[in-house]
Amino acid sequence: MGNLTFTMIKPDAVRAEKHAEILAHLVRNGFKIVALKMTCMSRNDAKRFYAVHRGKPFFEPLLDFMTSGPVVAAVLEHEDAVAALRKVIGATDPAEAAEGTVRKLYGTNKTQNAIHASDSDENARYEWSIHFTEKEIML
Ligand code: CMP
Repeated sequence: MGNLTFTMIKPDAVRAEKHAEILAHLVRNGFKIVALKMTCMSRNDAKRFYAVHRGKPFFEPLLDFMTSGPVVAAVLEHEDAVAALRKVIGATDPAEAAEGTVRKLYGTNKTQNAIHASDSDENARYEWSIHFTEKEIML
């Protein structure tokens, strides 16, 4: 398994001004930030980013939400990074997320769940390439 993954702090958490706290939480849990950006996703970016969910009932509301304000995108380094980050952020639904996870601490519901994390090395590369050029990743 690779040592890089991608994360994105979602518009709900940025609006609540929790993005710095969440980044600090990730760093405290052993993740190194190797790329970082506050940005707004266009609807087309969000469609590409969530292409695997096209056609699902939550797809359009998810696009509306993800384009509703700024996000903070980052590439993170950690041993077995994808699995390690998914453990720290918790289940998709904050109500089901384990105590102390980012979604339990900062999420509201399944759509407004504070943070995204890639679910495979391949998806991580795809997702960070939507936000970063190669020279913006400090390896
Ligand atoms: P994320 O990790 O960003 O990946 C896909 C997103 O779709 C997920 O987090 C949720 O925010 C959203 N999502 C997944 N399942 C549902 C659902 N059943 N209802 C609403 N949103 C969902």
